[in-house]
Amino acid sequence: MGVFDSGVGGLTVLHECLVTMPHEDFVYLGDHARLPYGPRPLDEVQRFAREIGAYLQSRGVKLVVNACNTATSAALPQLQEELDVPVVGVITPEAHAAVQATRNRRIGLLATEGTVRAGRYAELVHALDAGVELVSVACPRLVPLIESEDPFGAETTRAVREYAAELKEAGVDTVILGCTHYPLIGQVFQRVFGRDVTLVFSAEETAREVAETLARKGYENDAGREGSYRFLTTGDPGSFRAMGARFLQLPIDDVEHVDLAVLGAAA
Ligand code: DGL
Repeated sequence: MGVFDSGVGGLTVLHECLVTMPHEDFVYLGDHARLPYGPRPLDEVQRFAREIGAYLQSRGVKLVVNACNTATSAALPQLQEELDVPVVGVITPEAHAAVQATRNRRIGLLATEGTVRAGRYAELVHALDAGVELVSVACPRLVPLIESEDPFGAETTRAVREYAAELKEAGVDTVILGCTHYPLIGQVFQRVFGRDVTLVFSAEETAREVAETLARKGYENDAGREGSYRFLTTGDPGSFRAMGARFLQLPIDDVEHVDLAVLGAAA
Protein backbone atom coordinates (compact mmCIF):
# COMPACT_ATOMS: atom_id res chain seq x y z
CA MET A 1 0.00 0.00 0.00
CA GLY A 2 1.26 3.49 -0.74
CA VAL A 3 0.85 6.34 1.77
CA PHE A 4 1.98 9.91 1.07
CA ASP A 5 2.21 13.36 2.60
CA SER A 6 4.29 16.50 2.11
CA GLY A 7 6.38 15.43 5.14
CA VAL A 8 6.06 13.43 8.36
CA GLY A 9 2.38 14.28 9.02
CA GLY A 10 1.10 11.23 7.16
CA LEU A 11 2.95 9.07 9.69
CA THR A 12 -0.05 9.64 11.99
CA VAL A 13 -2.13 7.80 9.38
CA LEU A 14 0.56 5.19 8.71
CA HIS A 15 0.72 4.43 12.46
CA GLU A 16 -3.01 3.65 12.57
CA CYS A 17 -2.71 1.56 9.39
CA LEU A 18 0.11 -0.49 10.96
CA VAL A 19 -2.03 -1.06 14.07
CA THR A 20 -5.10 -2.05 12.03
CA MET A 21 -3.33 -4.06 9.28
CA PRO A 22 -0.05 -5.49 10.61
CA HIS A 23 -0.13 -8.12 7.83
CA GLU A 24 0.03 -5.56 4.98
CA ASP A 25 3.11 -4.03 3.29
CA PHE A 26 3.46 -0.22 3.26
CA VAL A 27 5.54 2.26 1.26
CA TYR A 28 5.50 5.78 2.76
CA LEU A 29 6.58 8.78 0.69
CA GLY A 30 7.27 12.21 2.24
CA ASP A 31 7.66 15.00 -0.32
CA HIS A 32 10.08 16.98 1.85
CA ALA A 33 11.73 18.76 -1.07
CA ARG A 34 8.46 20.64 -1.69
CA LEU A 35 7.14 21.00 1.89
CA PRO A 36 5.07 22.88 2.95
CA TYR A 37 2.16 22.36 0.57
CA GLY A 38 -0.17 24.65 2.55
CA PRO A 39 0.83 28.06 1.09
CA ARG A 40 1.03 26.82 -2.54
CA PRO A 41 -1.69 27.28 -5.16
CA LEU A 42 -4.05 24.29 -5.20
CA ASP A 43 -3.32 23.45 -8.86
CA GLU A 44 0.38 23.10 -8.02
CA VAL A 45 -0.40 20.78 -5.09
CA GLN A 46 -2.68 18.84 -7.41
CA ARG A 47 0.23 18.33 -9.84
CA PHE A 48 2.48 17.07 -7.01
CA ALA A 49 -0.20 14.64 -5.80
CA ARG A 50 -0.77 13.29 -9.31
CA GLU A 51 2.97 12.71 -9.77
CA ILE A 52 3.24 10.89 -6.45
CA GLY A 53 0.10 8.81 -7.06
CA ALA A 54 1.38 7.69 -10.47
CA TYR A 55 4.82 6.95 -9.03
CA LEU A 56 3.46 4.83 -6.16
CA GLN A 57 1.24 2.95 -8.60
CA SER A 58 4.28 2.27 -10.82
CA ARG A 59 5.93 0.67 -7.76
CA GLY A 60 3.08 -1.84 -7.63
CA VAL A 61 1.02 -0.67 -4.63
CA LYS A 62 -2.55 -2.00 -4.49
CA LEU A 63 -4.10 1.11 -2.86
CA VAL A 64 -3.00 4.73 -2.35
CA VAL A 65 -3.69 6.65 0.88
CA ASN A 66 -3.57 10.41 0.33
CA ALA A 67 -2.53 11.15 3.93
CA CYS A 68 -2.37 14.93 3.50
CA ASN A 69 -5.43 17.14 3.94
CA THR A 70 -4.08 19.78 1.58
CA ALA A 71 -3.42 17.23 -1.18
CA THR A 72 -6.80 15.59 -0.51
CA SER A 73 -8.47 19.00 -0.89
CA ALA A 74 -6.52 19.71 -4.09
CA ALA A 75 -6.54 16.36 -5.85
CA LEU A 76 -8.63 13.49 -4.44
CA PRO A 77 -11.15 13.24 -7.33
CA GLN A 78 -8.39 13.56 -9.95
CA LEU A 79 -6.36 10.76 -8.34
CA GLN A 80 -9.43 8.55 -8.14
CA GLU A 81 -10.13 9.16 -11.82
CA GLU A 82 -6.57 8.66 -13.05
CA LEU A 83 -5.25 5.74 -11.02
CA ASP A 84 -6.22 2.11 -11.52
CA VAL A 85 -5.92 1.36 -7.80
CA PRO A 86 -8.37 2.64 -5.14
CA VAL A 87 -7.48 5.98 -3.50
CA VAL A 88 -8.52 6.91 0.06
CA GLY A 89 -8.29 10.52 1.37
CA VAL A 90 -8.50 12.09 4.81
CA ILE A 91 -11.17 14.82 4.89
CA THR A 92 -14.54 13.03 4.79
CA PRO A 93 -14.09 10.96 7.99
CA GLU A 94 -13.27 14.10 10.01
CA ALA A 95 -16.26 16.04 8.73
CA HIS A 96 -18.54 13.12 9.75
CA ALA A 97 -16.95 12.73 13.17
CA ALA A 98 -17.14 16.47 13.90
CA VAL A 99 -20.84 16.76 12.98
CA GLN A 100 -21.56 13.76 15.21
CA ALA A 101 -19.51 15.10 18.12
CA THR A 102 -20.75 18.70 18.36
CA ARG A 103 -23.53 19.49 20.82
CA ASN A 104 -23.81 23.24 20.25
CA ARG A 105 -23.39 22.91 16.43
CA ARG A 106 -20.38 25.21 16.42
CA ILE A 107 -17.30 23.54 14.92
CA GLY A 108 -13.79 24.95 14.51
CA LEU A 109 -11.35 23.96 11.77
CA LEU A 110 -7.58 24.36 12.06
CA ALA A 111 -5.80 23.54 8.80
CA THR A 112 -3.33 24.81 6.21
CA GLU A 113 -4.11 27.83 4.05
CA GLY A 114 -4.70 25.56 1.05
CA THR A 115 -7.18 23.36 2.90
CA VAL A 116 -9.12 26.37 4.22
CA ARG A 117 -9.10 28.02 0.78
CA ALA A 118 -10.37 24.85 -0.94
CA GLY A 119 -13.49 24.84 1.29
CA ARG A 120 -14.05 21.06 1.20
CA TYR A 121 -14.70 20.84 4.96
CA ALA A 122 -17.41 23.50 4.77
CA GLU A 123 -19.10 21.64 1.88
CA LEU A 124 -19.00 18.28 3.65
CA VAL A 125 -20.04 19.59 7.07
CA HIS A 126 -22.97 21.53 5.59
CA ALA A 127 -24.06 18.56 3.47
CA LEU A 128 -24.47 16.65 6.75
CA ASP A 129 -25.97 19.50 8.82
CA ALA A 130 -26.70 22.80 7.07
CA GLY A 131 -27.29 24.44 10.48
CA VAL A 132 -23.73 23.98 11.75
CA GLU A 133 -21.55 27.06 12.04
CA LEU A 134 -18.00 26.26 10.85
CA VAL A 135 -15.24 28.67 11.87
CA SER A 136 -12.04 28.05 9.86
CA VAL A 137 -8.58 29.30 10.80
CA ALA A 138 -5.52 28.82 8.58
CA CYS A 139 -2.34 28.02 10.55
CA PRO A 140 0.62 28.65 8.21
CA ARG A 141 3.26 28.54 10.98
CA LEU A 142 2.45 25.08 12.33
CA VAL A 143 3.77 22.66 9.66
CA PRO A 144 7.22 24.35 9.47
CA LEU A 145 7.40 24.35 13.30
CA ILE A 146 6.43 20.67 13.55
CA GLU A 147 9.08 19.78 10.95
CA SER A 148 11.70 21.94 12.72
CA GLU A 149 14.41 20.90 15.20
CA ASP A 150 12.19 21.94 18.13
CA PRO A 151 8.57 20.88 17.46
CA PHE A 152 7.57 21.04 21.14
CA GLY A 153 9.21 24.40 21.93
CA ALA A 154 7.60 27.56 23.32
CA GLU A 155 7.03 28.97 19.84
CA THR A 156 4.74 26.07 18.93
CA THR A 157 2.56 26.61 22.01
CA ARG A 158 2.48 30.34 21.29
CA ALA A 159 1.35 29.75 17.70
CA VAL A 160 -1.33 27.22 18.73
CA ARG A 161 -2.67 29.69 21.35
CA GLU A 162 -2.89 32.43 18.73
CA TYR A 163 -4.70 30.25 16.20
CA ALA A 164 -7.03 28.85 18.87
CA ALA A 165 -8.10 32.30 20.15
CA GLU A 166 -10.66 32.92 17.38
CA LEU A 167 -12.23 29.49 17.88
CA LYS A 168 -12.49 29.98 21.64
CA GLU A 169 -14.07 33.37 21.07
CA ALA A 170 -16.64 31.77 18.76
CA GLY A 171 -17.52 29.20 21.47
CA VAL A 172 -16.91 26.06 19.39
CA ASP A 173 -17.22 22.77 21.30
CA THR A 174 -15.50 20.66 18.63
CA VAL A 175 -12.29 21.35 16.72
CA ILE A 176 -11.15 19.51 13.59
CA LEU A 177 -7.36 19.13 13.42
CA GLY A 178 -7.52 19.31 9.63
CA CYS A 179 -3.87 18.59 8.84
CA THR A 180 -2.18 15.23 9.39
CA HIS A 181 0.79 16.98 11.03
CA TYR A 182 -1.28 18.38 13.91
CA PRO A 183 -1.89 15.14 15.89
CA LEU A 184 1.92 14.90 16.22
CA ILE A 185 1.60 17.82 18.70
CA GLY A 186 -1.85 16.71 19.90
CA GLN A 187 -1.01 17.29 23.57
CA VAL A 188 -0.30 20.98 22.88
CA PHE A 189 -3.79 21.35 21.34
CA GLN A 190 -5.36 19.48 24.28
CA ARG A 191 -3.74 21.81 26.82
CA VAL A 192 -4.73 24.94 24.90
CA PHE A 193 -8.38 23.92 24.40
CA GLY A 194 -8.97 22.08 27.71
CA ARG A 195 -11.34 19.21 28.42
CA ASP A 196 -14.59 20.71 27.21
CA VAL A 197 -13.57 20.82 23.55
CA THR A 198 -13.57 17.63 21.49
CA LEU A 199 -10.59 17.34 19.13
CA VAL A 200 -11.28 15.42 15.92
CA PHE A 201 -8.70 13.94 13.57
CA SER A 202 -9.02 11.18 11.08
CA ALA A 203 -6.09 8.77 11.25
CA GLU A 204 -8.03 5.94 12.90
CA GLU A 205 -11.11 6.36 10.70
CA THR A 206 -8.93 6.50 7.61
CA ALA A 207 -7.18 3.24 8.56
CA ARG A 208 -10.59 1.63 9.05
CA GLU A 209 -11.72 2.83 5.63
CA VAL A 210 -8.55 1.41 4.06
CA ALA A 211 -9.08 -1.97 5.76
CA GLU A 212 -12.74 -2.06 4.65
CA THR A 213 -11.81 -1.16 1.07
CA LEU A 214 -9.25 -3.99 0.92
CA ALA A 215 -11.74 -6.45 2.43
CA ARG A 216 -14.59 -5.50 0.07
CA LYS A 217 -12.36 -5.89 -2.96
CA GLY A 218 -10.74 -9.08 -1.68
CA TYR A 219 -7.28 -7.46 -1.83
CA GLU A 220 -6.10 -8.29 1.71
CA ASN A 221 -2.94 -10.20 2.50
CA ASP A 222 -3.12 -13.39 4.55
CA ALA A 223 -3.81 -12.26 8.14
CA GLY A 224 -1.15 -14.66 9.51
CA ARG A 225 1.80 -13.04 7.76
CA GLU A 226 3.95 -10.19 9.03
CA GLY A 227 3.85 -7.06 6.91
CA SER A 228 6.69 -4.71 6.08
CA TYR A 229 7.15 -0.96 5.74
CA ARG A 230 9.64 1.21 3.93
CA PHE A 231 10.21 4.93 3.61
CA LEU A 232 10.94 7.25 0.71
CA THR A 233 11.62 10.98 0.71
CA THR A 234 12.30 13.59 -1.94
CA GLY A 235 14.36 15.44 0.73
CA ASP A 236 17.16 14.46 3.09
CA PRO A 237 16.94 10.80 4.23
CA GLY A 238 18.91 11.47 7.45
CA SER A 239 16.58 14.11 8.85
CA PHE A 240 13.50 12.12 7.78
CA ARG A 241 14.88 9.09 9.64
CA ALA A 242 15.39 11.14 12.82
CA MET A 243 11.99 12.83 12.67
CA GLY A 244 10.14 9.66 11.72
CA ALA A 245 11.67 7.75 14.62
CA ARG A 246 10.88 10.57 17.09
CA PHE A 247 7.24 10.91 16.10
CA LEU A 248 6.38 7.28 15.28
CA GLN A 249 8.60 5.60 17.89
CA LEU A 250 9.41 3.12 15.18
CA PRO A 251 12.91 2.12 14.18
CA ILE A 252 13.44 3.38 10.65
CA ASP A 253 16.48 1.84 8.98
CA ASP A 254 16.69 2.70 5.34
CA VAL A 255 15.17 5.79 3.83
CA GLU A 256 15.39 5.89 0.05
CA HIS A 257 15.85 9.23 -1.70
CA VAL A 258 13.56 9.76 -4.71
CA ASP A 259 14.47 12.44 -7.21
CA LEU A 260 11.78 14.94 -8.17
CA ALA A 261 12.59 14.24 -11.84
CA VAL A 262 11.66 10.58 -11.28
CA LEU A 263 8.30 11.62 -9.80
CA GLY A 264 7.69 14.00 -12.69
CA ALA A 265 8.42 11.27 -15.22
CA ALA A 266 5.85 8.92 -13.60
CA ALA A 267 2.93 11.33 -14.15
N1 DGL B 1 0.16 17.15 6.39
C1 DGL B 1 -0.23 18.14 5.40
C2 DGL B 1 -1.73 18.33 5.50
O1 DGL B 1 -2.37 17.44 6.02
C3 DGL B 1 0.64 19.36 5.55
C4 DGL B 1 0.59 20.27 4.36
C5 DGL B 1 1.76 21.17 4.22
O2 DGL B 1 2.82 20.68 3.84
O3 DGL B 1 1.60 22.38 4.44
O4 DGL B 1 -2.31 19.30 5.06
